[in-house]
Amino acid sequence: MAKTRATSGLDLHIERTGHRVRAGLETALREAIRDGRLQAGTQLPSTRALASDQGLARNTVSEAYDQLVAEGWLTARQGSGTFVADLDSVTPLRATSATAESLASIRFDLRPGQPDLTSFPRSAWLSATRSAMGAASDQQFGYGHLRGAQQLQNALAAYLGRARGVIAHPDQVIICNGFTSGLDLICDVLVHRGTTRFVIEALGHTLHHRLLARREMQIATIPVDGVGAVVSELPSADAVLLTPAHQHPLGGALHPARRRAVTTWANQEGAVIIEDDYDGEFRYDRKSVGALQSLAPDRVVYSGTASKSLVPGLRLGWLIPPNDMLEELIEAQRLTGRHASIVDQVALAHLIESGGYDRHIRRMRNIYRRRRDRLESILTERVPSARVRGVAAGLHAVVELPPGKTEDEVVATARERGLALTGLSETIAEAESPPPALVIGFGTPPSHSYTAALARLVAVLEHS
Ligand SMILES: Cc1ncc(COP(=O)(O)O)c(C=O)c1O
Repeated sequence: MAKTRATSGLDLHIERTGHRVRAGLETALREAIRDGRLQAGTQLPSTRALASDQGLARNTVSEAYDQLVAEGWLTARQGSGTFVADLDSVTPLRATSATAESLASIRFDLRPGQPDLTSFPRSAWLSATRSAMGAASDQQFGYGHLRGAQQLQNALAAYLGRARGVIAHPDQVIICNGFTSGLDLICDVLVHRGTTRFVIEALGHTLHHRLLARREMQIATIPVDGVGAVVSELPSADAVLLTPAHQHPLGGALHPARRRAVTTWANQEGAVIIEDDYDGEFRYDRKSVGALQSLAPDRVVYSGTASKSLVPGLRLGWLIPPNDMLEELIEAQRLTGRHASIVDQVALAHLIESGGYDRHIRRMRNIYRRRRDRLESILTERVPSARVRGVAAGLHAVVELPPGKTEDEVVATARERGLALTGLSETIAEAESPPPALVIGFGTPPSHSYTAALARLVAVLEHS
């Protein structure tokens, strides 16, 4: 069915095919963008106008727009409409490789790693930026903020002390581009010091494993279980990377006896503990577990990030190192030239000082708690043989697969059905075989598609 309309100077010719109206509209729009008939920056008709022109329900058009925004084909600008996204960002979907083809057909994403991007507090961020810009001095726009903006150092030292139990003087706070760049800086210092025996958790974030593997370091692993890293198995080493508040990916908090044991180990070894506190604010059933750093501030480099509390695109993170590492880290920072934008730093400082950051976290904690409850209850009810673990905190859960199912087959079936999933074995640092399981990120799907994403997950687990 072909229809043409003219809205705001735009002739939009849409050729819908198939019986499923919304899917047909989405496909027609994707094809028009792919072919270049709809070019980057083109404004689409309002949902009301397109619905009336196509003889469709307005909801159908707005769901199709939302879906294409989620897939990256369109962008929605609050108050000004929906536009075709920059073509460069769509180009990979034009490729003909099997991977690119299957990525293009992903409608739901339950992979871990991202918060709900649609919940970024845009208005609060805008007003924080406006206030912060009004108050910033001209000098702040120059070079010379190797540690970070003084306002953000002050705001974070106070916030982390209050909310995460970190012991920090503002001058100790170093702002970096997220945890990943912080880890890179720490590695620079360790390699420069000639201390390169590094221990990581046997299950962890693959990007961090790869970052370390590129360095000239000897890497050992320690096992992890439901209460964090088994620190009694720590070998002699110079540094260990831990996720004490919320083991990634298994989800446990480091047992109190293990917290004490690892600081004793670090004192004996003269080693550094790198504390990756990536989502410590999100704990649901009781008060959050405070930072390990407070037990041994002269041994622990505490690291936090805005990637889960706000969004990863900000690329803002922070390190609180022991005093004897501070100058070396600042020098490493100078050499990378990768300092965070001063504009974003002062905006974040203002957001924290105004209480907007706490409010956002409280709001998101409630949203994520509800999502976690829904994930847990739907799986308990519909796929009782799938065990859900590690749900007390964070934005992901580990779902052990029903007997007889393999990770590869479940992930592949899900992909065929437009659902992106991650297998637990993708988080492994050494050749071990954990039970077949999925790491389900429940933060990622926008609210309007979460129910459908869960239904698809259940269908895959029931039938694959
Ligand atoms: C274990 C872990 N650490 C840290 C991060 C955040 O990294 P960054 O701050 O570089 O975005 C993530 C994000 O997914 C993570 O899973």
